[in-house]
Amino acid sequence: MKSYIVAISGASGAIFGLRLVEALLKTENMVYLLVSETAFFIIKTETGVDIAGNTESSVNKKIRKHFSSDHIQYFAESNLTAPVASGSFVTDGMFVVPCSMKTLSGIANGYANNLIERAADVVLKEGRMLVLSPREMPFSAIHLEHMLKLARLGVKIAPPVPAFYHKPKDINGIIDFVVGKLLDVAGVNNNLFKRWK
Ligand SMILES: Cc1cc2nc3c(=O)[nH]c(=O)nc-3n(C[C@H](O)[C@H](O)[C@H](O)COP(=O)(O)O)c2cc1C
Repeated sequence: MKSYIVAISGASGAIFGLRLVEALLKTENMVYLLVSETAFFIIKTETGVDIAGNTESSVNKKIRKHFSSDHIQYFAESNLTAPVASGSFVTDGMFVVPCSMKTLSGIANGYANNLIERAADVVLKEGRMLVLSPREMPFSAIHLEHMLKLARLGVKIAPPVPAFYHKPKDINGIIDFVVGKLLDVAGVNNNLFKRWK
């Protein structure tokens, strides 16, 4: 069984993070889920899914119920003693989907001020796979410089940009295309969208 860290930060497009988790669980992966404080609010506002809670264990319970799986473990943003905060805890890589400009900046500058930034810092220093899906519109030169800096370190910069050559029938077709491409980038097999032949 492979294991991935998935961080959902406070950018619009929370549905991409949730759908990514679903797809990873469906293909028998272990998921370590990190959710920023703002992301809890955005997840609820944009998708109606309420996974917020007062303690790490109560949120973990809600998340396992939501995804109907025990192969997912949530760690609070403030829990810098979580396993994913250490390089000795080996995973197959990390996704930040969606990635806010604040979290992008934190990762690009090695700030490691919360568990999402620390886990990404660890994945980077250990040379493991890191996929970021930065979401903002438009991007400033600061945002683009952070992305370029990380891309030069081998980080996959994969913003949630849809395509239409697969002729999506509805919004789910658009979401699945983006999530399928994120999984492609990470080398995770998937059939989430119809490929160009
Ligand atoms: C509804 C809502 C939507 C937001 N969308 C974005 C976004 O698309 N991109 C972004 O960089 N910040 C966005 N923000 C602002 C971030 O949430 C804010 O900068 C926050 O400090 C990010 O912290 P985090 O990365 O730790 O979650 C949004 C905030 C709210 C309340």
